[in-house]
Amino acid sequence: MEGVVVLFGTETGNAEDLAEELGATLGEAGFEAEVVDMEEAEPGLLDGSRAVVVCTATHGDGELPIYSQDFYEALEDERPDLGGVMYCVCGLGDSAYPDFCAGGRIWSAFLSELGARELVERYEIDGDPEEDDVEGACEWVLKAAGRFAALTEERR
Ligand SMILES: Cc1cc2nc3c(=O)[nH]c(=O)nc-3n(C[C@H](O)[C@H](O)[C@H](O)COP(=O)(O)O)c2cc1C
Repeated sequence: MEGVVVLFGTETGNAEDLAEELGATLGEAGFEAEVVDMEEAEPGLLDGSRAVVVCTATHGDGELPIYSQDFYEALEDERPDLGGVMYCVCGLGDSAYPDFCAGGRIWSAFLSELGARELVERYEIDGDPEEDDVEGACEWVLKAAGRFAALTEERR
């Protein structure tokens, strides 16, 4: 059974709720999914043994949620080689702000800079997630996890 870690960065709960939905969807599809708050995450979680799903809001002026910034900075300090890591990013934002979904873009760019491989294109949600946004995100994450499973199988 392939493992997936769903990391969320939130200030007001939307990304957390969505991350829980994604984790449950992955679990139902047979993946071993763990949902982790970036506030409690350590760089060692990105060890390549599991796919990484980043689910992050944007706050301030196009910035990462405050509670996720220490985790991001720990990775910036450590700069691990993420050559063996596969990931995908779901960004939550609001197009009323000039820097729409910047948090998701920041994570995509950073993980790929550290050598990780993006499984599927970023998924973005504008405003508080509605039912169809959540359904779309669940389909999206299953596609990413399916690709992860296929690539992992190829490497065996
Ligand atoms: C103070 C504040 C600043 C925000 N800044 C941005 C922003 O720069 N870009 C963006 O796309 N969304 C921005 N948002 C919208 C949030 O990213 C969006 O509401 C998201 O769903 C919140 O997720 P969370 O509940 O997980 O924190 C901002 C929201 C607030 C309250």
